[in-house]
Amino acid sequence: MSALPLQTPSGIIAAPFDVEPIRADFPILGEVRVNGKPLAYLDNGASSQMPQQVIDRLVRYQTREHANIHRGVHYLSATATAAFEAARVTVQRFLNARQDREIVFTSNVTDSINLVAHGYGRAFIGAGDEIIITHLEHHANIVPWQMLCEEKGAKLRVAPINDSGEVIMEEFEKLFSPRTRFVSVTHVANALGTINPVREMTEIAHRHGVPIMIDGAQAVQHMAVDVQALDCDFYAFTGHKVFGPTGVGVLYGKAALLEKMRPFRGGGDMILSVTFEKTTYNVIPYKFEAGTPPISQAIALATALDYVTGVGLDRIAAYENELLRYATESLRAIPDVRIIGEAQQKASVLSFNVGEVHPHDVGSLLNDDGVAVRTGHHCAQPVMDRFGVAATARASFAFYNTLAEVDQLAASVRRVQKLFA
Ligand code: ALA
Repeated sequence: MSALPLQTPSGIIAAPFDVEPIRADFPILGEVRVNGKPLAYLDNGASSQMPQQVIDRLVRYQTREHANIHRGVHYLSATATAAFEAARVTVQRFLNARQDREIVFTSNVTDSINLVAHGYGRAFIGAGDEIIITHLEHHANIVPWQMLCEEKGAKLRVAPINDSGEVIMEEFEKLFSPRTRFVSVTHVANALGTINPVREMTEIAHRHGVPIMIDGAQAVQHMAVDVQALDCDFYAFTGHKVFGPTGVGVLYGKAALLEKMRPFRGGGDMILSVTFEKTTYNVIPYKFEAGTPPISQAIALATALDYVTGVGLDRIAAYENELLRYATESLRAIPDVRIIGEAQQKASVLSFNVGEVHPHDVGSLLNDDGVAVRTGHHCAQPVMDRFGVAATARASFAFYNTLAEVDQLAASVRRVQKLFA
C-alpha cells in the first residue's frame, strides 16, 4: 500500500502520502514479527514508536554529549545545556508559543497536569470554588483536580457527552458560575478519539474570565497545534506518544500565569538562592524544573518533533483520516461489532467491542494474528460507564500504519466474531 491522494484539513489536495519510506524509518515495524505474522502496531494511543532519527539522536547524545546541564562550565556540560535549551526552542516553535520560557519540561502529561493543579490550583482555588472538566477525560485529567477539590473544599463540575461521545456544548457553558475558577479539558479523548472544540471551549472559558488547560496527549501527533491561535492558558503533551522517548513531557503556560504560580517541586536548579531562613525561586521555566531533568529525552523529543513537522501535520491528519474512515467501515461491516465513540470530529482512534466477548480476549486473539491493540478501560472509566461497558478494544493509528494493516485488523476481528458466534 502506498501513495494515497490526500485532502488536507484546510481542503487543499496534498501530494500523495507515500507511507513506505516513512515505515522504513521505524525499524521496529519491520524487525518484529508476532507469532510468525507481520506486526500491525495499532496501539499508538498508548505509546508510539521512534524513527531511526530519534534513536540516532539518543545514541549520539549518550556517546558524545552527555553531562548534567546548567551546572558546569566544562565542555560537555555546555554542549548538553545548549542542546537541551535548543530542544525547548523546538517545542516552542512546534506549539507556536510566544517565548521559550513558556515551555516547561516535565516527565509526562500527568506530571504537567499535576504541576498546574498544585502550582496554580493550590494558590488560586479555594473552598466553594469550582473546576470544570468533561466526561471524556483520562484519569490524569480527573484525579489531580479531585485531589485538589478534596484538599480545598472545591467542587468538580463535569460537562456531559452525547451518545456519539461529543461534549454537549450548551451544557458545558451552563456549568460556568461566578465560582468557576478553572477549566481543564482534553483536546482528543484517548478512549474514543473525539476531538473537542477546544478553540470554542477556550472562548467560553475566557468569556467567563476563567483560565483553561488543554490535555494534548492524544492530539499533537495527529494535528498541528497553535497555542496562540487557540489562546489556551496551558497545554500539555508527552514525548512517547509523538514518536519520542518516554520520561519527557511538556507544559506550555502563558508567561504571566507561570510567573504567578507556586513551584511544584523543590530542589536544585529551581532556586536563585537558598539559606536555612529563606529560598528565592528561579525564573520561569526553571522554577518548575527541580532536579536533573530528562536531558536526553528532551533533546530526542525535539528530533521527533522535527520529524513530524518534516512529514507535515496537515498531511498526517489527512492520511490518518483515510485510515480511520477505512477502519470504521471495515469494522462496521462485521456482525456483532459495536463501535464506541462516533463523534463527527475524530482523531484516528477506534474503540470497539465484539458482541459479549471480553475485550481482553479480543486483544489476545488479535495478538495471535500479530495485531497490537489496547484493551481495558483506557484509564477513562467514566467514559466506559457512560457507554455501559466495562472495557473496549481500541485500535489507535499513526501515520506509519497502512490500509493493509487495517485489513489485517478486520480479518482478525472477523475471526474473533466467528469463533464466539
Ligand atoms: N494514556 C494512554 C492510553 O490512552 C496510556 O493508552
